[in-house]
Amino acid sequence: MTTYKLALIPGDGIGVDVTDAAMKVMAAAASRFGFALESESFPWSCAYYLEHGTMMPEGGIETLRGFDAIYLGAVGWPATVPDSVSLHGLLLPIRKAFNQYANIRPHRLLPGVEGPLKAEGFDILCIRENTEGEYSGAGGRLHEGKDNEVAVETSVFTRAGVERILRFGFEQARARRGHLTSVTKSNAQKYSMVFWDEVTRELAAEYPDVTVSHMHIDAMAAKMVMAPQDLDVVVASNLFGDILTDLGAAIQGGLGFAASANINPDRSAPSMFEPVHGSAPDIAGQNIANPIAAIWSGAQMLEHLGEAEASTAVLAAIEAATAKGIGIRPGLNTTQEITAAVIAALEA
Ligand code: IPM
Ligand code: MN
Repeated sequence: MTTYKLALIPGDGIGVDVTDAAMKVMAAAASRFGFALESESFPWSCAYYLEHGTMMPEGGIETLRGFDAIYLGAVGWPATVPDSVSLHGLLLPIRKAFNQYANIRPHRLLPGVEGPLKAEGFDILCIRENTEGEYSGAGGRLHEGKDNEVAVETSVFTRAGVERILRFGFEQARARRGHLTSVTKSNAQKYSMVFWDEVTRELAAEYPDVTVSHMHIDAMAAKMVMAPQDLDVVVASNLFGDILTDLGAAIQGGLGFAASANINPDRSAPSMFEPVHGSAPDIAGQNIANPIAAIWSGAQMLEHLGEAEASTAVLAAIEAATAKGIGIRPGLNTTQEITAAVIAALEA
């Protein structure tokens, strides 16, 4: 029997609640489809930071490298640790260290879920660059606290980085409905975004079967509200993709439904799976967080591990639960009820 080694980082707030829920579903999928999941849980979080002064121990990255996949709940507890510290101490370094350059975020309505839009039949796959761009971390502050204070934060776009994420997007488009929308702001940002547009055109020549649209981020934000059904694969830089995927979550009914996979496509290091949502301190530990985004992220993990049948079954089980009205609106069902409904559908 194949055994997969998972590193679990439940993290903070509802990250703990939804990781527990997702792992229960993953365990049910494993026993139904005949593989084993062996998981080790790491307490790295803001609570860990308060005790140790770091979000993860020295060598944490090397510890994670030995696993087949990483599953993360959510990171952040801004009442005690600034987000800029907690995220740069855990989530963001993992994405970069393991070259998880493709952040895959699907946006569509699950059966029974009512989104805020009139449009229903949309199915968007957002491919967000996940290691460089506006999140490069290059920058600094001068004359801190003085009148002449300066803060500089530099976006970094490398040919290798831009080419590989666009290529990934083209491949996804080819495997879906054959349409790729590349999102930039090249009318205002004349170096990096013009460069991105150029690389898109170069690659388009290699993918004659994919139709390509170029859109600016502002127009794209409007399009996702007005005509999301016209979109297939959307590829964007790190920050643009971050913003568009919260919008994507909103049109699919809320952050409780938005899944996310941080993929290292060449498999030279583990990939990481986490819902798009954050730690939601206001509802943490109350058994009311929607675990569907987390469970869906778990399905993405199973697919990446090579358990396609189990992955499809988990997604079908989520859909069976929501089609019955379970978990379709905040406050309707507890975390445990939703989890149990998904497991029941999986085992049916
Ligand atoms: C996300 C989150 C993170 C990001 C934050 C928590 C740093 O918003 O995964 O979308 O911006 O990437
Ligand atoms: Mn985000």
